[in-house]
Amino acid sequence: MSKDHLLILSSPLMEKEVVLSGIRPTGFLHLGNYFGAMRNYVRMQDTYHCYFFVANWHSLTTHPDTKELQNSVYRVIAENIACGLDPDKVALYIQSDVPEIAELYLYLNMLAYKGELEKTATFKEKVRLQPENINAGLLTYPVLQAADILIHRAVKVPVGKDQEQHLEMARHFAERFNYRYGEVLPLPYAFNYGGELVRIMSLDGTGKMSKSENQLATLYLADEEDSIRKKIMKAKTDEGPAEPNSVKPDYIENLFTLMKLVSTPGTLQKFEDDFNASSAGNCVIRYGNLKKQLAEDMARFIRPIREKAADIQHNRPLLQKIIHQGADKARASASETLKLVRQAIGMNYG
Ligand code: TRP
Repeated sequence: MSKDHLLILSSPLMEKEVVLSGIRPTGFLHLGNYFGAMRNYVRMQDTYHCYFFVANWHSLTTHPDTKELQNSVYRVIAENIACGLDPDKVALYIQSDVPEIAELYLYLNMLAYKGELEKTATFKEKVRLQPENINAGLLTYPVLQAADILIHRAVKVPVGKDQEQHLEMARHFAERFNYRYGEVLPLPYAFNYGGELVRIMSLDGTGKMSKSENQLATLYLADEEDSIRKKIMKAKTDEGPAEPNSVKPDYIENLFTLMKLVSTPGTLQKFEDDFNASSAGNCVIRYGNLKKQLAEDMARFIRPIREKAADIQHNRPLLQKIIHQGADKARASASETLKLVRQAIGMNYG
C-alpha cells in the first residue's frame, strides 16, 4: 500500500465513515446474496471506507472439511469481484490473513461473560443443531465477530436482521473496553438500506434462497444457463388469479420481483398488465411464457458474473495479488487500532 493511502487512513480529517461486513464462506453465493448484500456493498464502495472480508475462522466453529473451505474462500473472493467490488477501492481480505483480529479477540474475551454468550440466539440454535460439538469457539463466536468490526473501528455494519444481536453484543464489548481502559473503540451499528432491501424467496415458495439447502429452488451465481432455465421453469405457480387486479400470492410476487431486477421495464409491464387483466374465466397471463422470458433474462444477467468469477478463480496469480493487496490494507488499519488498544490496556512494553 502507498504511503499516501496510509496517510488518508490515519488522517484526523478523515471524513468517510468506516463500513465493514463479513461473508461466511459456506456454500455458493446466490441471487438473494447478490441483491440483498453484494449489490449494496458495490454501491457503498465510493461513499465509505469499506472493509469486506471472508470469515474463514468463524467457519471452523462447525468443523467443516478444510479443503472445501479453502476452495470456498477463493470462490467467494472471485465472486465478489465479479459482482463489482473493486479491490482498489475497498479492502477485500481473508480474516485469517489478519492476526491482529485474533489478539483483539483475546482482549475482548476477558470482557465477555459466559452467561450472555450462552443466551445468544445463534449459539442456542447451534447447540440444537450440533449437540456433539459445542466448542468454545462457537460460544465466543460473537466476540470474534466484535473483534472483526472493532479492529477497523467500523461504525456501520451492513448485515441482515439475524445479526442484530451480535451487533448489540459488539457494542457492549466496546463500551466495557472504553469504560475500563479509555475511549478507543467507536460503537458499531447494523446498517441496511431498509425499505430498499430486496428480499428474494426460493423458487418453490418455501422461505429464502439458501447457500446450502433447497438447491433446486435457488439461483446461484455459478449456475450454468440450462440449470437456470430448468430451475425457473419449475418455479411454483398456480392456475392464475380469480379476479382482475388481485393481490399476488408471494411465490408469484417473487417471480415479478426477479423480473423487475433482470428484465426490461416494458417486459415487466406487459406481464403486470396481463396479470391484472386476468380472472377465473379469462386467464390472460401465461405463467409459462413469463417463466420462459424470465429464464432468458436471468441467464443473460448471470452469465457475465459467472464467467468473470470463473476467470478470476482460475487465475491464481491474479487471485493471490488481490488477496495480498486486501491483507495489506486490512493489516495497516488493524495494527493502528491494536496499537491504541495495547496502549490503553498498558500492554505496550519496551
Ligand atoms: N456472522 C456473520 C454471518 O453469519 C458473518 C460475520 C462474521 C460478520 N464477522 C462479521 C458480519 C463481522 C459482519 C461483521 O453472516
